[in-house]
Amino acid sequence: MCGIVGYVGSKQAAPVLLKGLATLEYRGYDSAGIAIWHGGQLEMAKAAGKLQVLRDLTAEGSKLPGTMGIGHTRWATHGEPTDVNAHPHLSRSGRFAVVHNGIIENYQQLKTRLQRHGYNFVSQTDTEVIAQLVEYYYKGDMLDTMIQLMNQLEGSYSLGILCVDEPERFYAVRKDSPLVVGLGQGENLIASDVAALLAYTQEVYYLDDREIVVLAADKVEIYDSSRDLVHKEPQHIDWDVSAAEKGGYEHFMFKEIMEQPESVRKTLSPRLQDGQIVLDDFHIDRERLEQFRKIYIVACGSSYHVAAVGKYILEQTTRIPVEIDIASEFRYRGPIIGPDTLMIVISQSGETADTIAAMREGRALGAHVLAIVNVLGSTIAREADDVLYTWAGPEIAVATTKAYSTQLAVLYLLALRFGQLLGTLPEAELAAAYRALEQLPELLEQALQKREHIQHMASQLYNKHSIFFIGRNVDYAVAMEGSLKLKEISYIHSEAYAGGELKHGTISLIEPGTLVVTLATCDRLVEKIKSNAEEVKARGAYLLAVAVEGDERLAKVADAVFYVPKTEALLQPSLTVIPLQLFAYYVASQKGCSIDQPKNLAKSVTVE
Ligand code: G6P
Repeated sequence: MCGIVGYVGSKQAAPVLLKGLATLEYRGYDSAGIAIWHGGQLEMAKAAGKLQVLRDLTAEGSKLPGTMGIGHTRWATHGEPTDVNAHPHLSRSGRFAVVHNGIIENYQQLKTRLQRHGYNFVSQTDTEVIAQLVEYYYKGDMLDTMIQLMNQLEGSYSLGILCVDEPERFYAVRKDSPLVVGLGQGENLIASDVAALLAYTQEVYYLDDREIVVLAADKVEIYDSSRDLVHKEPQHIDWDVSAAEKGGYEHFMFKEIMEQPESVRKTLSPRLQDGQIVLDDFHIDRERLEQFRKIYIVACGSSYHVAAVGKYILEQTTRIPVEIDIASEFRYRGPIIGPDTLMIVISQSGETADTIAAMREGRALGAHVLAIVNVLGSTIAREADDVLYTWAGPEIAVATTKAYSTQLAVLYLLALRFGQLLGTLPEAELAAAYRALEQLPELLEQALQKREHIQHMASQLYNKHSIFFIGRNVDYAVAMEGSLKLKEISYIHSEAYAGGELKHGTISLIEPGTLVVTLATCDRLVEKIKSNAEEVKARGAYLLAVAVEGDERLAKVADAVFYVPKTEALLQPSLTVIPLQLFAYYVASQKGCSIDQPKNLAKSVTVE
């Protein structure tokens, strides 16, 4: 959601900024702009719409000379996506340019105050207040100005700021919104995430809240809010630039679907050692685990759907009650948790605003917070008591696939390890699940090989207007993810229901030809879900089923069946989700949708 880049070095800045913004496109945006310091002035170009409009406007950046600048892709919050509301925003004299991610909660008060001092505003954004405030406070010392600015702003922000008096340096700061500093050779950068830096460097600084960065071509200095210099160790990022490129695939989403066996292998294999589950740097031993009376899993979007699977499997292996919650609900409902609660937060980005807030609430109430995160150095990774990384590599498509699969993989590790520590999981079951975990990447590969049939079915069914997904137990949890995937990228209305709930309302929506996707991979519940399938079939539904190989029970009722390899019941969701991801992808592709950047959606939701 919104993307920031900033550059200072010897190259022409505008093309570098445009390239960085292109890498950040996946975050979601509806306008874009850049500002460049050149010849004692700030020059700016910005436009509503896709980056191509800005590219054309600036002739790929060539029209804007200068070797230092800031750029932005905006996902509208305050004010429509227009040219004027696009970032950067200039102060009234044009001496300062600002790009901003986040939301300034007290912008209206600040704006009124500045208006009383004669400042006029041209946009409807909260960000313009920042540019004007900088000008208001500036008395020749940018560092002082930044500190005064921070003292005034309430809300979340990461900022890149140019000052006309400073030909060689620009400024950045963050609070509750992601920003990374890239350390190059004779050039330095900022970006909302590392993907935009990889073409220049793999050495980065992660910033803490309220740290101010002063970037010059040959030097980066970081100050705290008392103006003291902060010493930080650079971190090396393992991802290389190809990880954030399409590599011959038509869409990132498809590339990432196909990468799942490898991502899951990378996530699992270092943790499966000689029959033991090894979770490094983990502070939960048996004694601590026995103190937990409750497990709470909190997340948003697809990560929440992983939590939904997690509830079934963790309760089964630990016999500890597990509650799950959507982060935006959890944070405002006075959750009943305390030191006897293990709170698991799940987040690909580690920057989802609601999940961060929920985690902080949980910690404040004394819960032990364990985070499952993909992005190294992200806010959630840094603030949680324990972190287990999903080694999925950068995920670019807005609709998550490989992050979902690796999150599930980490949950299995936890479930098995906890079950072992507590003695609640019989040895034989543990051993069987361990073996199945070792085989999971291979089985994922097999599941992906069946894609031709799925593509064919998608070509027959892509023009449906409403699709229902049903399942029981973990199949219900996976159905939620299948339904979300489809609606996110194909814009077809779709909903997921627990099979047993059908008769309590949804069945009234079934008409001749309505597509119902029935997940039937939970062995002990196949007969039950088959009855539900028959009920909708009797009302004319077109029935697509997902079943495990060798189980023909659904074939008798369904119009078509997607078969997935069989594994231990605990791990089956990892394979069940594959045809659903592929089906969503192929349907969206048939419809000609913008698969990697669906309308209105953002990869990382960094505001409430
Ligand atoms: C957005 C993304 C989803 C993701 C959700 C939570 O909605 O489009 O794919 O599941 O945010 O993001 P997180 O980074 O916290 O997992």
